Amino acid sequence: MTSPVNYTLTDEIGVITIDNPPVNALSHAVRQGLMDALDLADKDDSRAILIICTGRTFIAGADISEFGKPMQQPMLPAIVNRIEATAKPVVAAIHGTALGGGFEVALSTHYRCAVASARVGLPEVKLGLLPGAGGTQRTPRLAGIEAALELMTSGAPIAAAKAQVLGLVDKIIDGDLEEGAIAWVRELLAADARPRRTSEQAVPEHEAGVFDGARKLLGQKARGQIAPQAIVDCVEAAATLPFEDGLKVERENFLKLMSGDQSAALRHFFFAERQAARVDGLADDTPTRPIESVGIIGGGTMGGGIAMSFANAGIPVTLIEINDDALGRGLSIIDRNYAGSVKRGKLSDGKAVACRALISGSTDYASLAEVDLVIEAVFEDPDLKKNIFEKLDGVCKSGAILATNTSYQDVDAIAAVTSRPEDVVGMHFFSPAHIMKLLEVVRGNRTADDVLATCMQLAKRIRKVPVVSGVCYGFIGNRMLQPYGQQSQLLLLEGATPEQVDGAMENWGMAMGPLRVFDLAGLDVGYKARQALSDDEKGEPATYRVPDLLVEAGRLGQKSGAGFYTYDDNRRLTPDPVVHEVIKNAAAELNIERREISDEEIVNRLIGALVDEGRKILEEGIAQRSGDIDVVYVYGYGFPAWRGGPMYYADSASL
Ligand code: 3HC
Ligand code: NAI
Repeated sequence: MTSPVNYTLTDEIGVITIDNPPVNALSHAVRQGLMDALDLADKDDSRAILIICTGRTFIAGADISEFGKPMQQPMLPAIVNRIEATAKPVVAAIHGTALGGGFEVALSTHYRCAVASARVGLPEVKLGLLPGAGGTQRTPRLAGIEAALELMTSGAPIAAAKAQVLGLVDKIIDGDLEEGAIAWVRELLAADARPRRTSEQAVPEHEAGVFDGARKLLGQKARGQIAPQAIVDCVEAAATLPFEDGLKVERENFLKLMSGDQSAALRHFFFAERQAARVDGLADDTPTRPIESVGIIGGGTMGGGIAMSFANAGIPVTLIEINDDALGRGLSIIDRNYAGSVKRGKLSDGKAVACRALISGSTDYASLAEVDLVIEAVFEDPDLKKNIFEKLDGVCKSGAILATNTSYQDVDAIAAVTSRPEDVVGMHFFSPAHIMKLLEVVRGNRTADDVLATCMQLAKRIRKVPVVSGVCYGFIGNRMLQPYGQQSQLLLLEGATPEQVDGAMENWGMAMGPLRVFDLAGLDVGYKARQALSDDEKGEPATYRVPDLLVEAGRLGQKSGAGFYTYDDNRRLTPDPVVHEVIKNAAAELNIERREISDEEIVNRLIGALVDEGRKILEEGIAQRSGDIDVVYVYGYGFPAWRGGPMYYADSASL
């Protein structure tokens, strides 16, 4: 078998080239190849060594697929220590993304250069881990404690220019990386540059209390997660112990995290997310349709956010509204959202202006004649939606994809009103649509393969995570939410308070408890939907009696200042004794005996409800695989990724 690592000696420079597609992960063969190449470079006439990668990126980290299996020597910590100890100057040349163990390889070299488009980072925390090859010890020595903590506990990569400012990269190369890097190595040799070992540097000064401050902050921001806290311990070790001892602290913590439940769950999630982008039975080379322009119908809560998602990816959007007033309102919300992004530092002013310029408005459906994709996001009214699809069938060019953002309606019934049901698909975004990552792509029974393939590919282009769902009421996510919400109502009647239910779920890891979610979405939405149903369709009265009583008392949720809680002008909530009374009275009316309910029971019953529905969804073939359901819940509903998603959690906890 040929090695993925190649070594050549040219004009006194030994070049180690890693070629392990797709992302040059540090598989066993790469680690062995690196050691072999270092052996050669040690012995030959080279005066300096360059480490560079082929393909789309520098090393993107350890090979995650090897985690959880017996590791084969040589291990990465030994390799990076060997690189740093090399007697000849070693230089890393970075393009694409140098991540995790990949960036640790770069940090162990003596000099680092990168193309301007490169990004570097230590994302191990997203896998429930910490940088385990010296990253926790070298990064603070180069960039300082605060920057190192931020880089490692957020896991977010930074641009080469920022890395240069932080001292993590020494030089930005314009033009061809290999040519530029070799020229730089020659300059270094001409200047008699010597190996420069980060392990020998002192950690820069830092504020007293920085570690306790970080622990406290992360205790809130990353509630329940152990890896961020372990990272702080390791960086504190870097600041207080000799390098070798710091490495031991890092190793111990790394191994502990690697064998723990949280990392196993996050590793499952990493692969589930990538698997979700694949459609069973659809070949990788299924043709796609070009999407260069998009029309969106309805500039309300969802339409505006969807328009921004496309504009942010450089795709021009025509937004259609019912009249000039509604259009003006929709566009001004988009303006406000862009201003907010600039204010929060998420977008530069220039970029915001450029994106906004890609969104134009119209009240005339004829402006959609030439667009490649239309997404309908009008009120959740099946007749209105069908009417719009009939119009689209009349005005849109042949081959245009016609999508609906409906939350619940039957995509097949909508497709059936057109003469081209094969072009119709669901694209279910989540609110706020310019921020939330999840996109349920709803495959109708006649949706064409190339339409589906196009939507999956397009999702990535607009930085969404796509999951395919079959057609059913509420698709994957909202369908599961129903029994979950109903169970929360039963718990209230049986003796829990809203704050106990929400507190138990939030302490367990959910971003928001179910009753706060109801208040946020508006209790009137479900109330109105129930008005249209027969008693049979509504189901067990205990599952909706309390919200009905609250709505009838004018408590519609956050928007009216009161729902399951009371809200002040800043939308800060307080528990409300009035609600406790409403619940008690409803329980008496329904003959439900109240009792003490433990937090454990709350969690088990609510997650159990999600999982039971998830299993049905799987059995019916609505979701392709259980990992897809996990992706939906983590990206769409605030389920903690470190518990792997509801289906993974159920399996691992034998629910
Ligand atoms: N190990 C194994 N496989 C990996 C991998 C890794 N580190 N990184 C990516 N892959 C695989 C993906 O599973 C995917 O495989 P598939 O095509 O069979 O589904 C393929 O590479 C392409 O990945 P993406 O679809 O994610 O490609 P993108 O271009 O969108 O993104 C990336 C590329 C930014 C490199 C992204 O893949 C990524 O973030 N990877 C993970 C990086 C990471 O977490 N590194 C740290 C690892 S832990 C570590 O290094 C421990 C050390 O400290 C000891
Ligand atoms: P919204 O009420 O905020 O906006 C709907 C917009 O559609 C309004 O601005 C209205 O003027 C416009 N509209 C109505 N009829 C029209 C027509 N014939 N032509 C052009 N525009 C028309 O509604 P929202 O919340 O944006 O929901 C839209 C769709 O997205 C619904 O199907 C909803 O179920 C779905 N959805 C909503 C989510 C949410 O959290 N709000 C999440 C995911 C999907």
